[in-house]
Amino acid sequence: MPFEALRGFRDYLPPDAGARSHLLEAMRGAARRAGFQELEIPSVESLELYRVKSGEGIGEEVWGFSDKGDRPVALVPESTPSLARIFAARAKSEALPVKWFTVSKIWRYEEPQSGRTREFVQFNLDLLGAGSAAADTEILAAAAMLLDAAGAAGLYELRLNDRNLAEGLGRGLGATDSGRFFRALDRSRKESAAWLEEELEAVGLPAEARALLGDLVARSRAGVGPADAADFLDRLAAMGLPEPAPAGLARLRELLSLLGRVGIADRVLLDLTIVRGLAYYTGPVFEAFPKGTPARALLGGGRYDRLIELFGGPPTPACGFALGDQTLEILLRSAGRWPEGEPPLDAYVVAVTAGEVPLAIEWVARLRRAGIAADFDPMGRSMSGQLREASRRKARRALLLGPRELARGVVLERDLETGAQRERAPEEVLAGG
Ligand code: HAM
Repeated sequence: MPFEALRGFRDYLPPDAGARSHLLEAMRGAARRAGFQELEIPSVESLELYRVKSGEGIGEEVWGFSDKGDRPVALVPESTPSLARIFAARAKSEALPVKWFTVSKIWRYEEPQSGRTREFVQFNLDLLGAGSAAADTEILAAAAMLLDAAGAAGLYELRLNDRNLAEGLGRGLGATDSGRFFRALDRSRKESAAWLEEELEAVGLPAEARALLGDLVARSRAGVGPADAADFLDRLAAMGLPEPAPAGLARLRELLSLLGRVGIADRVLLDLTIVRGLAYYTGPVFEAFPKGTPARALLGGGRYDRLIELFGGPPTPACGFALGDQTLEILLRSAGRWPEGEPPLDAYVVAVTAGEVPLAIEWVARLRRAGIAADFDPMGRSMSGQLREASRRKARRALLLGPRELARGVVLERDLETGAQRERAPEEVLAGG
């Protein structure tokens, strides 16, 4: 019986695996340009780690099991708790701010669907030690840099809100269960206005408050861009919302002006439905979506100022985000921007007769040492078979080693695009010419 990959798991064949590496390298480069350093975390952690914080968002999705010593462990469902654990243990020796990024496989036991798998890669980027709006801006700017580096420039929007504002809003409007209120806002992007109305009634919002919020949500859905953001925040301020909403409003105002400074205000929208499923956020929260379709997020993150303390570290403000590989792939493919993957070969060395095979082996070794991507046929095919293979491999040129030419001290170089052929001196070709 043939075996298949498990449900929710994917195999990546060439050239896609190469394309994925290329994207991750481009994003690593962007993270390093922004002053972040790479951190590597384990794939399995104590299950306890996820009881400390995440909240319902991840609880049921944790891929947990007992190891051979009967210890409850889990495949990591996100990297933030690992990062908090690592930082908390070494907080005394780390100079602040700490700017770390991780590229990790992540496992979540979810119902697989388009853009959602049980195993995926997350590119995480976090800044620890700074509670300023400048630090939030740095994280949002890095998110935009990563997406641009991956080839998604112009294809996405960053939707921004603040947990303090969301909490004050719920309180001010009469929500009796803030968890359910947040979930209703979050799900409203995928549900109808009637569904939201029903949910809001269930969390205790009176009719007038439901109508008001329904309107704010509709405005959010359309996206509140830079031209309308100040008015939108003024309208919220005029509602006289209780604590901690004023702090959230003030932070959003500050952030919006700084985002203009780093040149990304044009792709940021205020959106009251962004509250994030994870329980540890304490300030600004954001998600990136394909432009105009806020359904499945490309990345998500925000400020989490109390998590390090929960892991036994000193009080340490923190913010960050994680970008997922699956939704990014869908976006890049749909825009025709999925990278090639494997770069074409530069030279394919052809043994014209079996007698030249040892020389062909020597040539590819020498070409490769000279920095040239070169290959040959280990299958003993005829010359025409080798040339067909060279074309299939998209080699730029074929180098034909034939007994007659070699006797005259030359080899034939055939340009595989134009078919043009010329004689070359071996030393010149082998030197990388
Ligand atoms: P998250 O929103 O749970 O946040 O995940 C971040 C991103 O991971 C999502 O926007 C999505 O692209 C991807 N993702 C999540 N679940 C799946 C899935 N089942 N299949 C494919 N992709 C998925 C976090 O994980 C936070 N720890 C981010 C963070 C870092 N906050 C602060 N620092």
